[in-house]
Amino acid sequence: MPNIIIVDDEQSLRQVLELVFREESYTVRTAFNGIQALEMLEAEPADVILTDVRMPDMDGIELLRNVRERNPDVGVVLMTAHSSVETARDAFKLGADDFIEKPFDVEELKVIIAKTLEKQALVSENRAFKRAQRERGSIGNIVGSSAKMHAIFQMIETVAEVQSTVLVTGESGTGKELVARAIHSMSPRADKPFISINCGAFTETLLESELFGYKKGSFTGANTDRKGLFEAANGGTIFLDEIGEMSPAMQVKLLRVLQERRVRPVGAHDEIPVDSRVIAATNRDLKRMAEDGTFREDLFYRISVIPIDLPPLRDRKEDIPALIEHFVRKFCDQSGKDLGISPRTAQILENYAWHGNVRELEHTIERAVALERSAEIQPEQLPTHITNYNPDRIRSEFSLPDDGIDLMSHLENLEKTYVMEALRQTGGNQTRAAELLQMPVRSLRHLLDKHSIRSLSAQMRSSD
Ligand SMILES: Nc1ncnc2c1ncn2[C@@H]1O[C@H](COP(=O)(O)OP(=O)(O)OP(=O)(O)O)[C@@H](O)[C@H]1O
Ligand SMILES: [Mg+2]
Repeated sequence: MPNIIIVDDEQSLRQVLELVFREESYTVRTAFNGIQALEMLEAEPADVILTDVRMPDMDGIELLRNVRERNPDVGVVLMTAHSSVETARDAFKLGADDFIEKPFDVEELKVIIAKTLEKQALVSENRAFKRAQRERGSIGNIVGSSAKMHAIFQMIETVAEVQSTVLVTGESGTGKELVARAIHSMSPRADKPFISINCGAFTETLLESELFGYKKGSFTGANTDRKGLFEAANGGTIFLDEIGEMSPAMQVKLLRVLQERRVRPVGAHDEIPVDSRVIAATNRDLKRMAEDGTFREDLFYRISVIPIDLPPLRDRKEDIPALIEHFVRKFCDQSGKDLGISPRTAQILENYAWHGNVRELEHTIERAVALERSAEIQPEQLPTHITNYNPDRIRSEFSLPDDGIDLMSHLENLEKTYVMEALRQTGGNQTRAAELLQMPVRSLRHLLDKHSIRSLSAQMRSSD
């Protein structure tokens, strides 16, 4: 039996509605204002609240706001007088499920309430499904069985319930966008849009009109009014990818939007209230940029209320087997193949360093699935830099002379030897040499200076 709370300060209406819904075999409780309704909700959960907007003490909008803070699973439908349709529009933004104008037809009201209940049931079912998924070691489409990913799954679930801005960081290909989508799809905003924009892909003026919209005639080519993405994502989530690329002027404008929760379209006088949750991502070190002054510190603090840092794949190798299986299945399904993976191939994939992270693994498997003609993916279908990669090779050369070694100077020598070998193999290309040595270019340069071989790298480059 669905459980409804009817809230109206007018006693006669409360009585009529109580009768109507009892007849439909609802469990009905009635309240004369928002405060009483909240008390009832605390005492015993409800499936849906039908509330008047104008009431003394706590009005319907305030009630809605309170309910949404506590429990995203309750349906809320507003009854408004004709004159306050505007309020109802605002109410949608605050998360009302529906509204009906007074005076109304009871049959119409019944349909609205039934629909709201249906939607609530779907939402809670979805939530239960996702919980079950996580227990099996994945949420959304995110696969991962490592302790590190489990901590991230938990974080995703927690932040999905709140409104705070989230900053997702991590190397390229670690799954930042996937995390942003998972947060959205597990949040009460799941049935509203998720809109993603790459801040690095636009010039400053274009980015502004993309995000905030523009008025007709505000610049050449603006032939009509256009909504910005913040408005389009109303009620939902806006994903600001590569936020580290945003120009200083745009950073100021974004900060204002986050503070005021309003946007001003280009060329407009008035601001428009927006309710879109912001998730930002970057593969740059924003904190350092903030310290260096290349990113606004106040904006950094504003967006990093909840930081989620995705570890590189090489730091969570336990995830590789499950990811392999996931991608083999994905690409087999797409191509109508039915492939396994040979133990040797799996071993090579598990040992590799994956500097392009999950994206590189995904592409490697996509290619291998396409190429394989037998029933199992063989090492021949992998690129040679992956099959040739062998960290064990180093260990096999290990030996300790009977009379011992001067470990510190030996290590220094080894370091220099490896750096020089990497430069030789890459024709002096520092970026690729750093990749071979699995370190940031910055660290390689540091080693070049330390061993006084920076000029050597330059010579190698000019001699080819
Ligand atoms: N844990 C994971 N499970 C399944 N697929 C994943 C996982 N992590 C990443 N992927 C896949 O890898 C690819 C790259 O992920 P995504 O685009 O989210 O990375 P990113 O961190 O945003 O990278 P970039 O910084 O380059 O934009 C996507 O196809 C994504 O589906
Ligand atoms: Mg991305």
